Amino acid sequence: MTTDNWTDIKEACEQVLPRDVVACIDRVRGSVHAESHLIAILHMVQAANGYLSREAMHAVAQLAQVPLAKVTGVATFYHYFRLHPRGKHMINVCLGTACYVKGADKISQRLMSDLGIGFGETTKDHMFSLESTRCLGTCGLAPVIMVDDQIHGPVTPGDVSTILDKYTKKEKAHKVAAPVQG
Ligand code: FES
Repeated sequence: MTTDNWTDIKEACEQVLPRDVVACIDRVRGSVHAESHLIAILHMVQAANGYLSREAMHAVAQLAQVPLAKVTGVATFYHYFRLHPRGKHMINVCLGTACYVKGADKISQRLMSDLGIGFGETTKDHMFSLESTRCLGTCGLAPVIMVDDQIHGPVTPGDVSTILDKYTKKEKAHKVAAPVQG
């Protein structure tokens, strides 16, 4: 059942959600299993926006006509859903066995200290996000970290600032080289 101001609600939600997500929700709204489609819908939102903002989850709940608590419940239950924007560069520290025995915990501590964030967090300047992972399939290089899609290894705690600097400098160079708008 839709409300009298359904058109306004829908228009507001369409400002927040990608068009294909709105179309997907339109198809499943009102079905007895509407809630069971939430995972797929939230995946689509995250793929488009990079994370699940509070506004996006609210729009999904309104459009799908399911309680907001149900949407946030799904989003927080599954650890692959991100509730905060990711940094420009994603750092994954391998905590698999081979890396762990070769000092991955010291690498993690150094990264946390240099970046001032913990796992699952993003630096204030949105430059880096930090995550942990299990075996990146390059155990021969242990301990390894992966920045975006590039593997670094073997890494020592002393290498951490050099690696971070490389990405920070690349970013600065990119900004300088960017054409002036207007
Ligand atoms: S355990 Fe780290 S790459 Fe395999």
